Amino acid sequence: MQAVKTSLTRLLGIRVPIVCAAMANGANAQTACHIQVEVTRGGGFGFVGAGFSTPESLRQDFDFIRSSFPDRGNKPLPVGYGFIGWLLDKNEDSAKQLLDITIENNVQAIWLAFGTDIHRWIQHVRTSSANARAHHKPLIFVQVTSVEEALVAANEWKVDAIVAQGTESGGHGGASAPSTFTLVSEILAALPQDGAAPAPPILAAGGMATGAQVAAYLSLGAAGAVLGTRFLLTPESAYKPAQRAALLAARGPGATVRTMALDTARASFGWPPNIDGRGLNNKIVDDIEAGVDHATIQARCKAATEAGDSSYMVVWAGQGVSLMNEIKPVKDVMVELHTDLVRQLQKSRRLLQEDS
Ligand SMILES: Cc1cc2nc3c(=O)[nH]c(=O)nc-3n(C[C@H](O)[C@H](O)[C@H](O)COP(=O)(O)O)c2cc1C
Repeated sequence: MQAVKTSLTRLLGIRVPIVCAAMANGANAQTACHIQVEVTRGGGFGFVGAGFSTPESLRQDFDFIRSSFPDRGNKPLPVGYGFIGWLLDKNEDSAKQLLDITIENNVQAIWLAFGTDIHRWIQHVRTSSANARAHHKPLIFVQVTSVEEALVAANEWKVDAIVAQGTESGGHGGASAPSTFTLVSEILAALPQDGAAPAPPILAAGGMATGAQVAAYLSLGAAGAVLGTRFLLTPESAYKPAQRAALLAARGPGATVRTMALDTARASFGWPPNIDGRGLNNKIVDDIEAGVDHATIQARCKAATEAGDSSYMVVWAGQGVSLMNEIKPVKDVMVELHTDLVRQLQKSRRLLQEDS
């Protein structure tokens, strides 16, 4: 199938400007990597969510990823690793160890998000990769939720790519982020892609389920699209069957909600100010709103998770979930997205007519 060329595909050497989001969910290491390996094989690029990784789980990951991409020689491993800033901040030594293992394994890119001191970790990656035996300096991707953050990332930190995450997105994100369409438009206006000063490629993230939506962001000027939730509806996903079934059943504007309720239910505290998360709107949210005490909610959530009762489980999901109708292998999701993207771009081209 036809390749789609953008500044992102040139940067990464890929054929399809579709990126699997870094999604930390504390899953078994190799389950977490299966999705990313298949996204890369499908022509896109996969970021493994390493927010809760340990040195041991990283080593297991790399054994698996290396065996998935044999004979790379000195070329970087065609996957990225995503870290969460505030979790790195908790313990400097262990953070550096995790980043260094990732760098030594010659990954193509590192993604950073959700921290008040992201620059510190960018500097560490740059210094450490200059000293390491790695043959390649990982590209730096930073996820932002406002135009101000994008300007700092581009102009001060000189990152290689910016992920513009809008309010529709699943999982954690900016509590006051605008829609993805508005955010990407604002960032493109502030960082013109064809201006005199070189600007990093801008990737749109949040709420996408189809290749046609990806095409819309490319037409707007984005260099690529990041999808997270879509890859949770796959057999490779670490989500439990009950969570996947809940994603399939989710419909309508109220199906998901941005809230801190889901973090409260899993006692996950420490997120930076103004970050909350989007997930399926369920009985957890009702109980928080009704003022049920947090210990009770946490106990109910734990019991429901063990029992596979999705009505009281944390199920992160973006607003695009309403358009997701099928659980199928990542490979097939990539074929569908790629085909739909190419078809939509061809259709858009037909909108142009020569003046007669
Ligand atoms: C289960 C889940 C876990 C996520 N974990 C992370 C993470 O570890 N780091 C991060 O930067 N973003 C994380 N995100 C947000 C994604 O990077 C991305 O912005 C989002 O998935 C895009 O929206 P979509 O899910 O609607 O496609 C997560 C999203 C989900 C759904």
